[in-house]
Amino acid sequence: MSARKIIIAIDGFSSCGKSTLAKQMAAILGYSFIDSGAMYRAITLYFLRHGIDINNKEQVVEALKDIHLSFHFNEERQASDICMNDENVEPYIRDLIVAEKVSPVAAIKEVRAFAVKQQQRMGKKKGIVMDGRDIGTVVFPDAELKIFMTAEPEVRVKRRFQELYPSNHNVTLDEVRHNLELRDYIDSNREESPLRQAHDAIVLDNSNLTREEQLEKVLGWVKERTTQTVAG
Ligand code: CDP
Repeated sequence: MSARKIIIAIDGFSSCGKSTLAKQMAAILGYSFIDSGAMYRAITLYFLRHGIDINNKEQVVEALKDIHLSFHFNEERQASDICMNDENVEPYIRDLIVAEKVSPVAAIKEVRAFAVKQQQRMGKKKGIVMDGRDIGTVVFPDAELKIFMTAEPEVRVKRRFQELYPSNHNVTLDEVRHNLELRDYIDSNREESPLRQAHDAIVLDNSNLTREEQLEKVLGWVKERTTQTVAG
């Protein structure tokens, strides 16, 4: 019995474990996992490297013409690495330098149009888990399963700190807290596709859930949707 393939959209605040969950689900379901945030981070890295003035529309539009993004599966990470113009930029995009600039970049209309077009193309065949901020509202408004993830702010700060610390012993909890607060504020208040819970999304607060517990919950929701019989 083969279950029908669906689109799973996971949205939510910074650092609440969206990618971790998306990755686990994709592996179990045999779906592809796309971290849409990686695209905004790679674009930001390009702008930083080339000194693009984000207040200059013309410069931004010209720069976007020179950016080619693609994903390549990395066996070791069991997830796709993002490549920008054939360079694997996965090792650089999580740095705080990029995190500090990504939200203003992602608020630019032209940047969003550029990324969303590619994301929608990736979902054409379904069988995809994508996480981000506007996946259930803008990218895939018809996704069969939409999850809106959240966790208490201090839990999120600690999780992100633990992720960053091994490669940067100078990082502080305050820096991480400041970055998460600022990004959540900009992402939720921007004009273009602000972070919102889709009206038909299920809220998942994982402050007090282990990875296994949240996975079990979510796989139950997937099962309900993939085994539903379509009337008519
Ligand atoms: O992993 P984390 O929660 O830190 O963030 P991310 O998913 O890597 O996204 C980084 C930034 O990209 C966000 O703070 C947003 O500004 C932007 N983003 C967005 O605007 N729309 C998306 N679909 C995904 C990310």
